[in-house]
Amino acid sequence: MTKNNVILRAVTEADLPIFYEQQLVPEATQMAAFPSRTREAFMAHWSKIMVNKNGIIKTILFDGHVAGNILSWEQSDKWEVGYWLGKEFWGKGIATKALAEFLDIVKIRPLFAHVVKHNIGSQRVLQKCGFVIAGEDKFAEENGMKIEELILKLV
Ligand SMILES: CC(C)(COP(=O)(O)OP(=O)(O)OC[C@H]1O[C@@H](n2cnc3c(N)ncnc32)[C@H](O)[C@@H]1OP(=O)(O)O)[C@@H](O)C(=O)NCCC(=O)NCCS
Repeated sequence: MTKNNVILRAVTEADLPIFYEQQLVPEATQMAAFPSRTREAFMAHWSKIMVNKNGIIKTILFDGHVAGNILSWEQSDKWEVGYWLGKEFWGKGIATKALAEFLDIVKIRPLFAHVVKHNIGSQRVLQKCGFVIAGEDKFAEENGMKIEELILKLV
């Protein structure tokens, strides 16, 4: 169940405060165009997904440290994948290894990912794991600004 020094394991309660801190980082929220949650909202959201038997969530360990999380969930009859790493873990190939490992465990296909157009790193991660661009979408941010995203698909 390992790709070199990257290991996926079940999420534990002790991981949640680390994930919470990781999703507060402004560069990350800007990169993903996804606003950070307050502690209360974050814990409520994760309490829900921890018991959701239809979702698949994993903690990404790098050299034994909690580097981030990777998950898959069903939305509008489609299975999506998403991931988030703490900033200190970026640029080491961890997301690519974690996604490759996740795809060995999660055999659901097709699998989709929505990525904002400016998130080149995430697009690279997906493409290196076999995802291809399958379409485009748009959503409105809280300030009303339209954000364009790509839909990537793995068949
Ligand atoms: C996006 C993210 C997951 C990338 O993780 P990572 O472990 O640094 O990615 P990898 O090291 O596996 O990089 C894969 C490729 O993307 C490139 N890449 C990574 N970050 C990049 C960036 N910011 N700009 C351009 N390219 C980038 C790498 O150079 C590598 O390309 P190469 O193999 O052709 O050289 C990480 O930055 C992150 O968690 N960001 C915040 C949350 C987020 O955006 N989640 C995804 C939402 S769709």
